[in-house]
Amino acid sequence: MSDPVVEAQKREAGEAAAALVESGMRIGLGTGSTVRYTIEAIGRKLTRGELHDVIGVPTSEASDRLARSLGIPLASLAELPRLDLCIDGADEVSPELDLIKGLGAALLREKIVAAASARLAIVIDAGKRVSRLGTRAPLPVAVLPFGWQSQLPFLAELGAVPELRRDASGEIVVTDDGLFLLDCRFAEGIDDPAALERALAMRPGIVECGLFLNMCERVFVAGDAGVTELRRRSSTAAPEA
Ligand code: A5P
Repeated sequence: MSDPVVEAQKREAGEAAAALVESGMRIGLGTGSTVRYTIEAIGRKLTRGELHDVIGVPTSEASDRLARSLGIPLASLAELPRLDLCIDGADEVSPELDLIKGLGAALLREKIVAAASARLAIVIDAGKRVSRLGTRAPLPVAVLPFGWQSQLPFLAELGAVPELRRDASGEIVVTDDGLFLLDCRFAEGIDDPAALERALAMRPGIVECGLFLNMCERVFVAGDAGVTELRRRSSTAAPEA
């Protein structure tokens, strides 16, 4: 059971972001315990008639099931290849609004859906803000099961301490797309996230990593003083508070 204060912050941030959703929008539906509150709020607004003609594209089987249970109309990216907005959670948010995502194992679909969306909004509790990426959460790297062990020395050369993700019963975690996850710790955080992302993208067998750089437009952060909205000024500038 999570800390009730943090849980309340997740709810506040998640529900605040639902205000971005307008009738007629095509929405990417993220994955995790924070954006769950956004999805539930969208479902309530549709039920009450405060929103109409909203179509969601889920980023995981779990979010698909949740949205269906709430009566939110759904489509796939095959049907809707361009979306107006994606709302999702994150595991870390840097001062530049760059992200680490993927502790919920959905990073590949999350990144595909975010890239297909005109805007990406993130919902977090205040504990997810970091001064440097990689200092709080490991960086998840999604790999093909074939030869996954060969990625370990490669990741170590990049400064990471990788660990294959297993569930509570010791079974290897397999993503919705049949991938394994190597959670990478960096002793001092990630020195150059863009260079690391490029190096990972070039490596055969590595499918995706949880770095979301220059993708996020705004972040709803819930803390002791309520919800703050951080916005990216441009792809290179620091965010406005
Ligand atoms: C899912 O793969 C992740 O990217 C989640 O969005 C992220 O882990 C945040 O999840 P919580 O809101 O549950 O912390």
